[in-house]
Amino acid sequence: MPAQRLSVVVTRRLPEVVETRMTELFNVQLRSDDTPMSREELQAAVKTADVLVPTLNDTIDAALLAQAGEKLKLIANYGAGVDHIDVATARQRGILVSNTPGVLTDDTADMAMALILAVTRRIPEGLAAMQTGDWQGWSPTAFLGQRITGKRLGILGMGRIGQAVARRARAFGMQVHYNTRHRLRPETEEELEATYWESLDQMVARVDILSINAPHTPSTFHLMNARRLKLMKPEAVIVNTSRGEVIDENALTRMLRAGEIAGAGLDVFERGAQINPRLRELPNVVLLPHMSSATVEGRAEMGEKVIINIKTFADGHRPPDQVVPAML
Ligand code: DGY
Repeated sequence: MPAQRLSVVVTRRLPEVVETRMTELFNVQLRSDDTPMSREELQAAVKTADVLVPTLNDTIDAALLAQAGEKLKLIANYGAGVDHIDVATARQRGILVSNTPGVLTDDTADMAMALILAVTRRIPEGLAAMQTGDWQGWSPTAFLGQRITGKRLGILGMGRIGQAVARRARAFGMQVHYNTRHRLRPETEEELEATYWESLDQMVARVDILSINAPHTPSTFHLMNARRLKLMKPEAVIVNTSRGEVIDENALTRMLRAGEIAGAGLDVFERGAQINPRLRELPNVVLLPHMSSATVEGRAEMGEKVIINIKTFADGHRPPDQVVPAML
Protein backbone atom coordinates (compact mmCIF):
# COMPACT_ATOMS: atom_id res chain seq x y z
CA MET A 1 0.00 0.00 0.00
CA PRO A 2 1.35 3.53 -0.75
CA ALA A 3 2.69 5.09 2.45
CA GLN A 4 0.33 8.11 2.14
CA ARG A 5 -2.70 5.84 2.46
CA LEU A 6 -1.41 3.90 5.48
CA SER A 7 -3.48 4.68 8.52
CA VAL A 8 -0.95 5.25 11.31
CA VAL A 9 -2.11 5.87 14.89
CA VAL A 10 0.41 7.42 17.31
CA THR A 11 -0.47 6.88 20.98
CA ARG A 12 1.53 9.73 22.52
CA ARG A 13 2.75 13.23 21.68
CA LEU A 14 6.07 12.97 19.82
CA PRO A 15 8.63 15.71 19.11
CA GLU A 16 7.22 18.22 16.64
CA VAL A 17 9.80 17.44 13.96
CA VAL A 18 8.73 13.78 14.03
CA GLU A 19 5.02 14.55 13.95
CA THR A 20 5.49 16.98 11.04
CA ARG A 21 7.35 14.40 8.97
CA MET A 22 4.77 11.72 9.76
CA THR A 23 1.98 14.04 8.66
CA GLU A 24 3.77 14.56 5.33
CA LEU A 25 4.24 10.85 4.75
CA PHE A 26 1.25 8.99 6.18
CA ASN A 27 -2.44 9.27 6.92
CA VAL A 28 -1.54 9.80 10.56
CA GLN A 29 -3.65 10.27 13.68
CA LEU A 30 -1.58 12.16 16.24
CA ARG A 31 -2.21 12.51 19.96
CA SER A 32 -3.22 16.02 20.94
CA ASP A 33 -2.34 15.92 24.65
CA ASP A 34 0.73 14.46 26.33
CA THR A 35 -0.96 11.68 28.25
CA PRO A 36 -0.94 7.95 27.57
CA MET A 37 -4.00 6.53 25.82
CA SER A 38 -6.63 4.86 28.00
CA ARG A 39 -7.28 1.16 27.44
CA GLU A 40 -10.45 2.08 25.53
CA GLU A 41 -8.53 4.45 23.26
CA LEU A 42 -5.92 1.76 22.61
CA GLN A 43 -8.66 -0.74 21.79
CA ALA A 44 -10.15 1.71 19.28
CA ALA A 45 -6.70 2.35 17.80
CA VAL A 46 -5.85 -1.33 17.16
CA LYS A 47 -9.26 -1.84 15.55
CA THR A 48 -8.79 0.88 12.93
CA ALA A 49 -5.05 1.34 12.29
CA ASP A 50 -2.78 -0.30 9.72
CA VAL A 51 0.17 0.72 11.87
CA LEU A 52 0.24 1.47 15.59
CA VAL A 53 3.06 3.63 17.01
CA PRO A 54 3.04 3.00 20.77
CA THR A 55 5.47 3.97 23.49
CA LEU A 56 6.58 2.14 26.61
CA ASN A 57 3.51 3.49 28.44
CA ASP A 58 1.13 1.34 26.38
CA THR A 59 0.46 -2.27 27.36
CA ILE A 60 0.07 -4.17 24.12
CA ASP A 61 -0.86 -7.56 25.57
CA ALA A 62 -2.62 -10.62 24.17
CA ALA A 63 -6.04 -9.31 25.23
CA LEU A 64 -5.52 -6.08 23.31
CA LEU A 65 -4.11 -7.86 20.28
CA ALA A 66 -7.18 -10.14 20.27
CA GLN A 67 -9.22 -7.03 19.52
CA ALA A 68 -7.01 -5.87 16.65
CA GLY A 69 -8.68 -5.40 13.31
CA GLU A 70 -7.61 -7.27 10.18
CA LYS A 71 -5.80 -4.15 9.00
CA LEU A 72 -3.26 -3.97 11.82
CA LYS A 73 -0.02 -5.28 10.36
CA LEU A 74 2.76 -3.36 12.11
CA ILE A 75 3.47 -2.13 15.64
CA ALA A 76 6.29 0.37 15.13
CA ASN A 77 7.34 1.06 18.70
CA TYR A 78 8.77 4.50 19.52
CA GLY A 79 11.52 3.17 21.80
CA ALA A 80 14.07 0.40 22.08
CA GLY A 81 12.50 -1.63 24.91
CA VAL A 82 9.58 -3.83 23.87
CA ASP A 83 8.72 -5.43 27.21
CA HIS A 84 5.28 -3.76 27.08
CA ILE A 85 4.44 -5.62 23.85
CA ASP A 86 3.49 -9.30 23.61
CA VAL A 87 5.77 -9.90 20.63
CA ALA A 88 5.02 -13.65 20.43
CA THR A 89 1.25 -13.12 20.25
CA ALA A 90 1.68 -10.33 17.70
CA ARG A 91 3.73 -12.68 15.55
CA GLN A 92 1.09 -15.42 15.81
CA ARG A 93 -1.47 -12.91 14.59
CA GLY A 94 0.74 -11.87 11.67
CA ILE A 95 1.55 -8.46 13.14
CA LEU A 96 5.17 -7.32 12.81
CA VAL A 97 6.86 -5.45 15.66
CA SER A 98 9.75 -3.01 15.25
CA ASN A 99 11.69 -0.82 17.68
CA THR A 100 14.35 1.93 17.63
CA PRO A 101 17.71 0.44 18.67
CA GLY A 102 21.05 2.19 18.43
CA VAL A 103 19.99 5.83 18.51
CA LEU A 104 19.69 6.06 22.28
CA THR A 105 22.84 4.10 23.11
CA ASP A 106 25.17 7.03 23.82
CA ASP A 107 22.61 9.11 25.67
CA THR A 108 21.70 6.21 27.95
CA ALA A 109 25.35 5.32 28.60
CA ASP A 110 26.07 8.98 29.40
CA MET A 111 23.29 8.90 31.98
CA ALA A 112 24.64 5.70 33.55
CA MET A 113 27.95 7.53 34.08
CA ALA A 114 26.12 10.60 35.36
CA LEU A 115 24.30 8.44 37.93
CA ILE A 116 27.51 6.68 38.94
CA LEU A 117 29.15 10.04 39.60
CA ALA A 118 26.07 11.57 41.20
CA VAL A 119 25.87 8.77 43.77
CA THR A 120 29.57 8.20 44.47
CA ARG A 121 30.40 11.94 44.58
CA ARG A 122 27.22 12.96 46.42
CA ILE A 123 26.28 15.58 43.86
CA PRO A 124 22.62 15.95 44.97
CA GLU A 125 23.74 16.60 48.56
CA GLY A 126 26.14 19.30 47.35
CA LEU A 127 23.46 20.80 45.16
CA ALA A 128 20.99 20.84 48.04
CA ALA A 129 23.51 22.62 50.29
CA MET A 130 23.96 25.31 47.64
CA GLN A 131 20.24 25.70 47.03
CA THR A 132 19.34 26.00 50.72
CA GLY A 133 22.22 28.41 51.39
CA ASP A 134 23.63 26.05 54.06
CA TRP A 135 27.14 25.94 52.62
CA GLN A 136 29.61 27.78 54.86
CA GLY A 137 32.71 27.28 52.70
CA TRP A 138 35.24 24.55 51.97
CA SER A 139 35.91 21.92 54.60
CA PRO A 140 38.45 19.05 54.61
CA THR A 141 35.79 16.64 55.84
CA ALA A 142 32.58 17.69 54.11
CA PHE A 143 30.88 15.86 51.24
CA LEU A 144 33.45 13.09 51.04
CA GLY A 145 32.49 10.62 48.38
CA GLN A 146 34.10 7.62 46.74
CA ARG A 147 36.74 7.86 43.99
CA ILE A 148 35.70 5.93 40.88
CA THR A 149 39.14 5.76 39.22
CA GLY A 150 40.52 2.26 39.66
CA LYS A 151 37.22 0.87 40.94
CA ARG A 152 35.58 -2.28 39.58
CA LEU A 153 32.49 -1.66 37.49
CA GLY A 154 30.24 -4.66 36.87
CA ILE A 155 28.01 -4.37 33.83
CA LEU A 156 24.97 -6.62 33.80
CA GLY A 157 23.93 -6.87 30.14
CA MET A 158 26.68 -6.19 27.61
CA GLY A 159 24.61 -5.21 24.58
CA ARG A 160 25.07 -1.92 22.74
CA ILE A 161 24.41 0.21 25.81
CA GLY A 162 26.47 -1.95 28.17
CA GLN A 163 29.42 -1.68 25.79
CA ALA A 164 28.99 2.09 25.54
CA VAL A 165 29.06 2.27 29.36
CA ALA A 166 32.23 0.14 29.34
CA ARG A 167 33.97 2.55 26.91
CA ARG A 168 33.12 5.51 29.10
CA ALA A 169 34.14 3.68 32.26
CA ARG A 170 37.55 2.84 30.76
CA ALA A 171 38.05 6.55 30.04
CA PHE A 172 37.40 7.17 33.76
CA GLY A 173 40.05 4.59 34.65
CA MET A 174 37.62 1.99 35.94
CA GLN A 175 38.11 -1.77 35.62
CA VAL A 176 35.33 -3.28 33.55
CA HIS A 177 33.70 -6.61 34.44
CA TYR A 178 30.60 -7.99 32.81
CA ASN A 179 28.01 -10.72 32.77
CA THR A 180 25.73 -11.16 29.79
CA ARG A 181 23.70 -13.75 27.89
CA HIS A 182 26.16 -14.05 25.00
CA ARG A 183 29.82 -13.50 25.77
CA LEU A 184 31.51 -10.82 23.61
CA ARG A 185 33.92 -11.76 20.83
CA PRO A 186 37.53 -11.88 22.09
CA GLU A 187 38.50 -8.79 20.06
CA THR A 188 35.66 -6.73 21.59
CA GLU A 189 36.55 -7.98 25.06
CA GLU A 190 40.12 -6.94 24.40
CA GLU A 191 39.14 -3.53 23.05
CA LEU A 192 37.00 -2.86 26.14
CA GLU A 193 39.56 -4.48 28.45
CA ALA A 194 36.56 -6.23 29.95
CA THR A 195 36.59 -9.32 32.17
CA TYR A 196 33.76 -11.78 31.56
CA TRP A 197 32.08 -13.51 34.50
CA GLU A 198 30.02 -16.56 33.70
CA SER A 199 28.60 -16.42 37.22
CA LEU A 200 26.57 -13.31 37.95
CA ASP A 201 26.70 -14.17 41.67
CA GLN A 202 30.48 -14.13 41.66
CA MET A 203 30.63 -10.87 39.71
CA VAL A 204 28.19 -8.93 41.88
CA ALA A 205 30.08 -10.01 45.02
CA ARG A 206 33.30 -8.45 43.71
CA VAL A 207 32.35 -5.16 42.07
CA ASP A 208 32.26 -1.68 43.60
CA ILE A 209 29.62 -0.37 41.21
CA LEU A 210 27.01 -2.40 39.35
CA SER A 211 25.36 -0.98 36.24
CA ILE A 212 22.16 -2.64 35.02
CA ASN A 213 22.01 -2.63 31.23
CA ALA A 214 20.01 -5.78 30.53
CA PRO A 215 16.55 -5.46 28.98
CA HIS A 216 13.49 -6.63 30.88
CA THR A 217 12.50 -10.10 29.67
CA PRO A 218 11.01 -13.07 31.55
CA SER A 219 14.55 -14.28 32.25
CA THR A 220 15.83 -10.95 33.61
CA PHE A 221 12.82 -10.17 35.84
CA HIS A 222 14.22 -9.67 39.38
CA LEU A 223 17.61 -10.95 38.26
CA MET A 224 18.84 -8.71 41.07
CA ASN A 225 16.63 -10.29 43.71
CA ALA A 226 17.10 -10.07 47.50
CA ARG A 227 19.50 -13.01 47.56
CA ARG A 228 21.75 -11.54 44.88
CA LEU A 229 21.60 -8.00 46.25
CA LYS A 230 22.85 -9.42 49.53
CA LEU A 231 25.95 -10.70 47.77
CA MET A 232 27.00 -7.11 46.98
CA LYS A 233 29.62 -5.45 49.13
CA PRO A 234 28.06 -3.04 51.68
CA GLU A 235 30.11 -0.20 50.20
CA ALA A 236 28.93 -0.97 46.65
CA VAL A 237 26.61 1.17 44.54
CA ILE A 238 24.02 0.07 41.97
CA VAL A 239 22.75 2.11 39.00
CA ASN A 240 19.91 1.23 36.66
CA THR A 241 19.18 2.92 33.32
CA SER A 242 17.50 -0.10 31.74
CA ARG A 243 14.25 -1.34 33.25
CA GLY A 244 13.14 -1.29 36.88
CA GLU A 245 11.83 -4.85 36.76
CA VAL A 246 15.40 -6.24 36.64
CA ILE A 247 15.82 -5.26 40.33
CA ASP A 248 13.53 -6.27 43.20
CA GLU A 249 12.83 -2.67 44.18
CA ASN A 250 11.42 -3.45 47.62
CA ALA A 251 14.42 -5.60 48.53
CA LEU A 252 16.79 -2.90 47.27
CA THR A 253 14.97 -0.25 49.30
CA ARG A 254 15.20 -2.35 52.47
CA MET A 255 18.92 -2.92 51.96
CA LEU A 256 19.64 0.74 51.21
CA ARG A 257 17.80 1.72 54.40
CA ALA A 258 19.73 -0.87 56.39
CA GLY A 259 23.06 0.31 54.97
CA GLU A 260 23.69 -3.08 53.34
CA ILE A 261 24.25 -1.34 49.98
CA ALA A 262 25.93 2.07 49.97
CA GLY A 263 23.87 3.83 47.31
CA ALA A 264 21.76 3.65 44.19
CA GLY A 265 21.17 5.74 41.07
CA LEU A 266 17.87 4.83 39.46
CA ASP A 267 16.34 6.18 36.26
CA VAL A 268 13.77 3.38 36.02
CA PHE A 269 11.44 1.73 38.51
CA GLU A 270 9.66 -1.56 38.87
CA ARG A 271 6.16 -0.08 38.76
CA GLY A 272 6.76 2.90 36.46
CA ALA A 273 5.95 6.16 38.20
CA GLN A 274 4.65 4.29 41.31
CA ILE A 275 7.98 4.49 43.08
CA ASN A 276 8.47 2.91 46.50
CA PRO A 277 7.99 6.09 48.64
CA ARG A 278 10.76 5.02 51.02
CA LEU A 279 13.29 5.37 48.20
CA ARG A 280 12.59 9.10 48.06
CA GLU A 281 13.60 9.53 51.69
CA LEU A 282 17.11 8.14 51.32
CA PRO A 283 20.11 10.49 51.02
CA ASN A 284 22.23 7.82 49.33
CA VAL A 285 19.82 7.43 46.42
CA VAL A 286 19.58 9.52 43.23
CA LEU A 287 16.26 9.17 41.45
CA LEU A 288 15.59 10.37 37.91
CA PRO A 289 12.30 10.33 35.96
CA HIS A 290 13.21 7.81 33.22
CA MET A 291 15.15 10.43 31.25
CA SER A 292 18.23 8.55 30.03
CA SER A 293 17.26 8.83 26.36
CA ALA A 294 15.81 12.32 26.76
CA THR A 295 17.92 14.38 24.38
CA VAL A 296 16.52 16.47 21.54
CA GLU A 297 18.74 14.58 19.11
CA GLY A 298 17.92 11.12 20.46
CA ARG A 299 14.17 11.59 20.47
CA ALA A 300 14.24 12.94 16.88
CA GLU A 301 16.36 9.99 15.76
CA MET A 302 13.95 7.57 17.45
CA GLY A 303 11.21 9.16 15.34
CA GLU A 304 13.30 8.79 12.18
CA LYS A 305 13.72 5.10 12.95
CA VAL A 306 9.97 4.67 13.41
CA ILE A 307 9.38 6.40 10.06
CA ILE A 308 11.97 4.24 8.26
CA ASN A 309 10.42 1.10 9.73
CA ILE A 310 6.94 2.13 8.57
CA LYS A 311 8.10 3.25 5.10
CA THR A 312 10.08 0.06 4.52
CA PHE A 313 7.04 -1.95 5.55
CA ALA A 314 4.82 0.11 3.21
CA ASP A 315 7.25 -0.68 0.39
CA GLY A 316 6.64 -4.38 0.96
CA HIS A 317 9.80 -5.21 2.92
CA ARG A 318 10.50 -6.24 6.48
CA PRO A 319 11.19 -3.24 8.73
CA PRO A 320 14.95 -2.96 9.39
CA ASP A 321 14.40 -2.98 13.15
CA GLN A 322 11.99 -5.88 13.29
CA VAL A 323 11.84 -7.60 16.70
CA VAL A 324 11.18 -11.33 16.75
CA PRO A 325 10.52 -13.43 19.88
CA ALA A 326 13.87 -15.26 19.53
CA MET A 327 15.66 -11.94 20.16
CA LEU A 328 14.06 -11.56 23.59
C1 DGY B 1 13.43 2.87 25.48
O1 DGY B 1 13.52 3.29 24.33
O2 DGY B 1 13.00 1.75 25.74
C2 DGY B 1 13.87 3.76 26.57
O3 DGY B 1 13.71 3.20 27.82
C3 DGY B 1 13.16 5.09 26.49
O4 DGY B 1 13.91 5.97 27.25
